[in-house]
Amino acid sequence: MQIITTQKALQEQVEACKRLGKTIGLVPTMGALHEGHASLVRKSVEENRVTFVSVFVNPTQFNNKEDLLKYPRDINKDAELLASLNVDFLFAPATEEMYTDEELNTTFSFDFGGLDQVMEGKMRPGHFNGVVQIVSRLFTLVQPDRAYFGEKDYQQLAIIRRMVQVLDFNDIQIVGCPIVRESSGLALSSRNQRLSAEEKAIAVNISHILFESRQLTQSQSVAQVQSWVIEQVNRVQGLTVEYYEIVDQTTLMPVQDFSHAIGCITVYCGPVRLIDNIKY
Ligand code: PAF
Repeated sequence: MQIITTQKALQEQVEACKRLGKTIGLVPTMGALHEGHASLVRKSVEENRVTFVSVFVNPTQFNNKEDLLKYPRDINKDAELLASLNVDFLFAPATEEMYTDEELNTTFSFDFGGLDQVMEGKMRPGHFNGVVQIVSRLFTLVQPDRAYFGEKDYQQLAIIRRMVQVLDFNDIQIVGCPIVRESSGLALSSRNQRLSAEEKAIAVNISHILFESRQLTQSQSVAQVQSWVIEQVNRVQGLTVEYYEIVDQTTLMPVQDFSHAIGCITVYCGPVRLIDNIKY
């Protein structure tokens, strides 16, 4: 595996691959890699001749400075894992390589068509502007045939799908990959590293309650199931729901019934903000 840190070297490698007609898979990440990322990487290695993985803790998508500072980083461990998965290129640039000072201090503008007005977008103003800013830049640099994203960040995936249409990246196939869970049910997340053993045991309740809510969809309305989940999670000592919304899987708008619906939750477990979702 070759490690690249500059945009210029990245473009040279991409051009060499393109000249040889090799298909390219891209897995954008912020590092602190876990089995969820590994599942995206395996799929890319399987489906493309060459795989590029980016590891970049993108400052413009953090609306909370503390969260950015505390975001787990371990590039050596990440590189080891990626090499073992047969990744061809790891792109790990410094912040200065990706952004000018002006870019760092200006919110990137994009027409979200309303997708940023709900859930994560509502709670984390500017977050998705930063996501679109970095992902569109990576798409321009790498020009992948396929790009891989986890369904755990479901709203992000919906926004990336819109982005390829609006910004004309139509040649790039967006591949959404299912959530990977611990055997306990807890959705894998880089932020889980910040949970104590005790908090982790508490956090397991989130997925259990979501799974249980599937049983209620025959007899209860969307509003009732939504309230039930919020009440059950808040009842667990140590968990506080920020939001739970049952929305359409494509438009992310409120739904009246469970066909094509997804429930998206954000919960504080102590100081750690966890997200999860369930398709009904
Ligand atoms: O999902 C993530 O880790 C990030 O939001 C992404 C897509 C790598 C952009 O920084």
